[in-house]
Amino acid sequence: MTTVTESRLAGLKEKIESRQALIGIVGMGYVGLPLALLFSGERFKVTGFDVEPEKVKTLNAGNSYIVRILPAEIQAAQRAGFHATADYSEIARMDAVIICVPTPLDEHQEPDLSFVTGTVESIAPWLHEGQLVVLESTTYPGTTEEIVVPLLESGNRQGLKASRALDEPGLHVAFSPEREDPGNETVARHDIPKVVGGCGPAATQLASALYGSIFRRVVPVSSPSAAEMTKLLENIYRCVNIALVNELKQLTMRMGIDIHEVIDAAKTKPFGFQAFYPGPGLGGHCIPIDPFYLSWKAKQFDFRTRFIELAGEINTAMPYFVIEQTAAGLNEQCKSIKGSKVLVLGVAYKRDIDDLRESPSLTIIELLREKGAIVAYNDPFFATVGRGRHYDLNMTNTPLDNLGQYDAVLIVTDHTSYDYPAIVAQSQLVIDTRNATKGIDSPKIVRC
Ligand SMILES: NC(=O)c1ccc[n+]([C@@H]2O[C@H](COP(=O)([O-])OP(=O)(O)OC[C@H]3O[C@@H](n4cnc5c(N)ncnc54)[C@H](O)[C@@H]3O)[C@@H](O)[C@H]2O)c1
Repeated sequence: MTTVTESRLAGLKEKIESRQALIGIVGMGYVGLPLALLFSGERFKVTGFDVEPEKVKTLNAGNSYIVRILPAEIQAAQRAGFHATADYSEIARMDAVIICVPTPLDEHQEPDLSFVTGTVESIAPWLHEGQLVVLESTTYPGTTEEIVVPLLESGNRQGLKASRALDEPGLHVAFSPEREDPGNETVARHDIPKVVGGCGPAATQLASALYGSIFRRVVPVSSPSAAEMTKLLENIYRCVNIALVNELKQLTMRMGIDIHEVIDAAKTKPFGFQAFYPGPGLGGHCIPIDPFYLSWKAKQFDFRTRFIELAGEINTAMPYFVIEQTAAGLNEQCKSIKGSKVLVLGVAYKRDIDDLRESPSLTIIELLREKGAIVAYNDPFFATVGRGRHYDLNMTNTPLDNLGQYDAVLIVTDHTSYDYPAIVAQSQLVIDTRNATKGIDSPKIVRC
């Protein structure tokens, strides 16, 4: 016999299949906004929630504040029923609520879950029986069960609990990590399999049905903790492997071997090797931060995550290594960093994206200034660089002309719009941290 709860579950699944389910996405940032567009593209009516009134206004005016999202895409979503709001009472109308808010580190390098807890406290009063709530923000294993569920349960007005069994009524709560690679055009977002772990079987089934409507493949796991840990494993794997090539780069430079030639040769092996590339240091909201969520949690289990700590140490030291190489390059020309004019090319944390978060360029600029250099930057994605977490630069974009005036041009982010042969031809000295000048033979280039 079908229970009331099971038939409600079937009802919500049917709403998802028929695209009648109303979807609320909290956090209209780099993750939440593209997700909203994916659902809109599949004919769902989506409401985007954000605490920043400017973002709400921009979206409702049919405009975008993320370079790779065109206003036309927002307008198409609006025609499918999308709108943005800062009014949490609209949560009550939603069938599913997906949380995509930031999870940074605090000043002690410890997890700062205040955006997650703030969001959960704001939505909890408006929740009703049978709603699905999914956390997508990257975090340590245990967050959904230990932080999100208790706040949802204590904060909602109907005294609802998280459903743990198929026939148990209540809220359906799940974790599903965002696995996007910004700027990577080779894999469409809907082709990235979606990992889902619910607090109970109903939550896993519902979240799988919801994501199954926009992603080609859903990968259910046994719990939210397993899903949370999956995301961290992926990012720690990247962080550790990048640290490995960053260390080997420093060794191969001493040995007179080109690390990029070695990586290109190694990656011809059809199994057992995945190429990672050295660079000026880690950047972005994920790789420099997420591993430390696990290190922090591990301490509760009296466990030291030594790989994470060592990788962090090596990667954090990379901007200092770039400064040493710049000093050495200038030294060859009988100059010091003090008093030299240096142009930093690229401040975004990686190629062709408009995201500054944790960018190694910011540290490099600060270090150069500390040593007395006169620093300018060029980046097609940033007209100005002001202040943010860990930096206070107050700079304006410099045009890419008269490169001969600089004692050194430092390639930190290898945007594809740059004409590297022309840059080398016009510059006195080029410090290349990204192998952007590959194939150009010039004594003016220091590759590091
Ligand atoms: N950016 C990426 O490439 C990426 C990839 C994978 C995972 N993630 C993870 O996804 C999460 C979100 O990252 P992001 O890059 O989208 O961050 P973001 O800063 O671009 O966007 C977050 C948005 O949430 C809003 N916000 C903050 N508190 C809120 C609240 N209480 N209610 C409503 N809105 C609120 C902010 O105003 C902002 O618009 C993080 O946990 C991040 O680690 C990001």
